[in-house]
Amino acid sequence: MCGIVGYVGPKPALEVVVEGLARLEYRGYDSAGVAVLSDGKLQTEKRAGKLANLRAALKENPRSADGIGIGHTRWATHGAPTDGNAHPHVDNANRVAVIHNGIIENFAQLRVELEERGCKFRSETDTEVVAHLLSEELAERGDNDLGAAMRSVCRRLEGAFTLVAISEDAPDLVVAARRNSPLVVGRGDGENFLASDVAAFIAHTRDAIELGQDQVVELRADSITVTDYDGAPAPVREYHVDWDASAAEKGGYEYFMLKEIVEQPRAVADTLLGRVAVDGTLTLDEMRLAPHELREISKIVIIACGTSYHAGLIAKYAIEHWCRIPCEVEVASEFRYRDPILDRQTLVIAISQSGESMDTLMALRYAREQQSRVLAICNVNGSTIPRESDGVLYTHAGPEVGVAATKTFLTQLVACYLVGLYLAQVRGLKFGDEINTIIGQLARMPEQVDKVLQTVEPVRELARSLADAKTVLFLGRHVGYPVAMEGALKLKELAYMHAEAFAAGELKHGPIALIEDGLPVVVVVPSREGRSVLHDKIVSNIQEIRARGARTIVIAEEGDDSVRPYSDTLIEIPAVPTLLQPIVATVPLQVFACELALAKGNDVDQPRNLAKSVTVE
Ligand code: AGP
Repeated sequence: MCGIVGYVGPKPALEVVVEGLARLEYRGYDSAGVAVLSDGKLQTEKRAGKLANLRAALKENPRSADGIGIGHTRWATHGAPTDGNAHPHVDNANRVAVIHNGIIENFAQLRVELEERGCKFRSETDTEVVAHLLSEELAERGDNDLGAAMRSVCRRLEGAFTLVAISEDAPDLVVAARRNSPLVVGRGDGENFLASDVAAFIAHTRDAIELGQDQVVELRADSITVTDYDGAPAPVREYHVDWDASAAEKGGYEYFMLKEIVEQPRAVADTLLGRVAVDGTLTLDEMRLAPHELREISKIVIIACGTSYHAGLIAKYAIEHWCRIPCEVEVASEFRYRDPILDRQTLVIAISQSGESMDTLMALRYAREQQSRVLAICNVNGSTIPRESDGVLYTHAGPEVGVAATKTFLTQLVACYLVGLYLAQVRGLKFGDEINTIIGQLARMPEQVDKVLQTVEPVRELARSLADAKTVLFLGRHVGYPVAMEGALKLKELAYMHAEAFAAGELKHGPIALIEDGLPVVVVVPSREGRSVLHDKIVSNIQEIRARGARTIVIAEEGDDSVRPYSDTLIEIPAVPTLLQPIVATVPLQVFACELALAKGNDVDQPRNLAKSVTVE
């Protein structure tokens, strides 16, 4: 889950690479480094800590580059985040430099073999073996063919990796390889780029090429050659990126997260765009699963991690209610290890913002081995999870840079609702006008989210007042329970506070013992309409905890006066249909966590120990 950039062309390579790294820092930020060819000589610079440390080192020790360079921002897997373990890694002759995203699983064995042949290792990383192997391969071949050397080395590697290399032996070339780890190429005019994510080169080109599994790309200023590991030409998909550099910038906000929170009405609206045909039917073009296949489905299993998992938990309520198909939701990292019962009639829905979470990818591969059909819900076009799925529904949230998922969560919810409604449509479980009514309610969501955003100032004040709290509990029922879980996750990851969510009905079975004087408890209250029994029960829960000293922070729909007497703080949200309430109820919780973290002085875009895209298991 590191970020990688490569450039070859007439521009100052160092500048292009460092600027690209700045856009990829969300992928990892415990160290950063670059390698360039300066007058044909390989030069590297790397520093532990954020990119700012590398920039400072480059300022102190400036260098020219010949228009060829690679850069890396790291999230450590093997070896502590030190200068020495930062990428690039070089061979003993200092002629080859390598950067890497992923894990080389057989590195220990390879290292022993290399050491036996006299190689001196300078880091604790798995990556360094590749620099030495490439060097050996180039020496053996004697033809300076870095591409062929890379193909040969990749055939010996096990695990997941994107590797990028440059060498003094091939001064016009950047070579990269991928297996189970992201890599996109940017096609420029007399210059070419590669990166883990198009954000790195979007300021230069919007024409991208998506590499397949087990492919090697050779990038020169005027050519791009893609082969498989045996050197045979390989098929690639070229596409045009439909967002620009400004979409990946902060737009005047101090943090990406703040910008991404306010972008939510737009993101929700964009995700709904173009889903209804002229005849009023729902059309999900990228679905790629034929109606007859969807009619055969007897069970749905949703797999996802973190925030995406919470979206899945909410989807379960909607899908089971609208489609009457049993729906299980499982944390992707647990899924394949419990021998789940899957077959051709099982539809597996993999939800992933990045499309690169290794846990989700491995779970979906397992599901496909069991013959299940897999549908991805994803925000990143061309990423691995949608590519390996039978169908995909893209959320159109635009790039999300802040590590904490915000706008992508809301758009995942919209996508899940669309899938539920589409299944109901193809299976003939709902009349067209019923579906259109719900689509109409969804279409009003951007306006409702906007309304929440206009009224969150008191939530910010509340958050600041709780900056010294040690614990915050979250309670919810029905779809409000996963919303409570999402609120707790946001607080943990951003404010580094203990936060826990409970189903409000479970309180009396144990967690109520946690309640003590002044303990902040956030309660998500279901709508009174349609779920009045649940609503009344949660009002009783609020009374129970308040009687035991809790400081109650209640999120309820506007006009719900029944909760007012028991709320120390009442946060009102627009009244919307019960199943859609998570779209509006989540927003104050995002703002709450973000503001509380800011009050503690935390970096909300890059919280400690985290990375945006988790490409290791
Ligand atoms: C969300 O705020 C987290 N950063 C994290 O839980 C994230 O949702 C999880 O890692 C899954 O990522 P994905 O959606 O890209 O697969």
